[in-house]
Amino acid sequence: MGLGEDYCERLYLTGLLHDVGKIGVRDAVLSKPGALTDEEFEEIKEHPDKGWAILQDLNPLSYVLPSVLHHHENYDGRGYPDNLAGEDIPLDGRILAVADAYDAMTSDRPYRSGMPHEKAEAILRNGAGSQWDAEGIDAFFRAMPDILHIKETYAPRTPPQRKKPQSV
Ligand SMILES: [Fe+2]
Repeated sequence: MGLGEDYCERLYLTGLLHDVGKIGVRDAVLSKPGALTDEEFEEIKEHPDKGWAILQDLNPLSYVLPSVLHHHENYDGRGYPDNLAGEDIPLDGRILAVADAYDAMTSDRPYRSGMPHEKAEAILRNGAGSQWDAEGIDAFFRAMPDILHIKETYAPRTPPQRKKPQSV
């Protein structure tokens, strides 16, 4: 998309932080097997605002805020939290929405297996220009060889144990 290396580095950090607001959503809702009730979905829909509230005082990270808040907007204006449409959605939010959707569709969940790459690609291409930014979809599939390589070599990180001082 012609974005520079620094921009992409920032977007990478934004990607790591984009769902931090889910920390404020109940586990029973987040990992519920099966369909959510309307009430539960309303609770999920609060995570962008919760993430924004958690991060908005961290001035050096202010660049992550637009997509923490707007990564669930749809290009046609039918997303959340603000029903933004088209280029009113911050660019980072439009990019993350594509990557996030692919990841959600192809990843295993406790209650279902991820779908095959081909099916996810068909859904994303079909939604280009309606649910997702068409330029973002094109760029995503141009980068697909790199994305598949990352996906294949990814190993979840085990958080290190902090070494505590010896008690005397
Ligand atoms: Fe999210």
